[in-house]
Amino acid sequence: MKTDFLVIGSGIAGLRAAIELGSYGNVLIVTKDRYFESSSSYAQGGIAVVMGEDDTIAHHMEDTLRAGGGICRKKAVSVLIREGPSFVEQLIRWGARFDKSGGEFLIGLEGAHSRRRILHFKDSTGEEIVRVLREKALENPKISKLPKHFVIDLMIRKDRCVGAVLLNEESGEVCPVIAKATVLATGGAGQVYWRTSNPPGATGDGIAAAYRSGGVLTDMEFIQFHPTIFALPGAPAFLITEALRGEGAVLRNIRKKRFMPNYHPLGELAPRDEVSRAIVSEIKRTGGDYVLLDATPIRPAILKDRFPTAYTACRRYGLDITRDLVPVSPGAHFMIGGVETDTWGRASVRGLFAAGEAASTGVHGANRLASNSLLEGLVFGARAGVAAADFAESHRMPSGIKRRAADIKVRTQNNTSASLQTDRLNHIRDAIKNTMWNHVGIIRSATSLEKALREIELLASAMNPYGPYSQLTRSELEIVNMLTTARLIVLSALKRRESVGAHYREDFPLWGGKRRHIRVQVS
Ligand code: SIN
Repeated sequence: MKTDFLVIGSGIAGLRAAIELGSYGNVLIVTKDRYFESSSSYAQGGIAVVMGEDDTIAHHMEDTLRAGGGICRKKAVSVLIREGPSFVEQLIRWGARFDKSGGEFLIGLEGAHSRRRILHFKDSTGEEIVRVLREKALENPKISKLPKHFVIDLMIRKDRCVGAVLLNEESGEVCPVIAKATVLATGGAGQVYWRTSNPPGATGDGIAAAYRSGGVLTDMEFIQFHPTIFALPGAPAFLITEALRGEGAVLRNIRKKRFMPNYHPLGELAPRDEVSRAIVSEIKRTGGDYVLLDATPIRPAILKDRFPTAYTACRRYGLDITRDLVPVSPGAHFMIGGVETDTWGRASVRGLFAAGEAASTGVHGANRLASNSLLEGLVFGARAGVAAADFAESHRMPSGIKRRAADIKVRTQNNTSASLQTDRLNHIRDAIKNTMWNHVGIIRSATSLEKALREIELLASAMNPYGPYSQLTRSELEIVNMLTTARLIVLSALKRRESVGAHYREDFPLWGGKRRHIRVQVS
């Protein structure tokens, strides 16, 4: 298969890149799940953008830099905040709906923002933006989609990315797709943790593939934990949006006492890393496995109208957020690090571009400001598209790949190992999640990280009997990617012997004060 541009992932960043590329050639969007499945679709709160009269680009930049703990790349922050408003206006022209009252946008507030600047559509903003971008992308006959195809690996020839090798999940066949330029927009890896807001597909596939291909990854130690993930014992974990706290909800310990003002002057609206650590400390102090989110200060009519996702999801488990306190606890939410790129999405491998959660432009520093990620997907997705188109202008379609692809064992998949060993695979998957949760979570130390590394290496050797990498099934490949990503998080966390933003080391509780980024690359 040949295409001018290969886009891997159909969240906001991937779709926005594809829309840009559709003016320059044929685009193939590949997804391992259904076409519309992505982490972006689950984003509830909104999109942060300078809109209000009391807000300015300078205020939004200051808030982003402050939340980032002093190590954001300022150039990337400037691009995001300055270009953000025009991308959002374009989205509105394309049909995106955001909540309004009396003809004016209702602008929300979230943690660490000094001004109201969150545009939202109820509490399903991500889904609304993805809807608009998906429709826009598919209006262009040059853009096509290929769901249910898993990226086994990127293809690299003479230090250039020339496409990817895919596994057709239905037929089990392995097929190479050759492209002039490839955009990775595969999202994050929340599934390496026991409790996460991420969908099941967030297994770090793109990040691990970029690493194997020789790409530079950066800031992998920074995993943002969202403070309020539903934590009712026996029920699944899901996100309870921070926007509720923006509208007045408060956190209480299991004795029903409000505690955030004891930890931070901004109370419940402190940056996410501070709120998550305060919850861990409060749970330790008062016992139990969770704290309680009290949304009763918000009027019931507003709760039902503005937060239907949270209201309905909690109702499913017998809780009425207009009356009941909701058990919540932090969970892995956002991968701040990833494939290192410049502000045009260019990765260190020629012909490879990355955007969204899979990429690391340095825009989030050590801790992402709430609701900056949907904006990041839009702005840097489009910029990666522009840069990929520019690259394709001066590079011909790779040739002579067919024979070389055969060298990497293009052949029909043998699925027998998967069906026979599902229980064992589930056991390995759970063990990764527990190891990362127990030893590489909100609070870390050299001892916990070294323990995690030993456990991950043992689990990696447990994958050996599953056969060579090129013969694995989708679930086996996902586990290999989870192990790779988990290992890189641990190695980076060991290297950062200080505490900053989302990375807290109890053996090094202070920040050294230097803006530096930890890079990892296959040696
Ligand atoms: C939320 O709604 O709390 C999550 C949105 C985000 O991560 O920016």
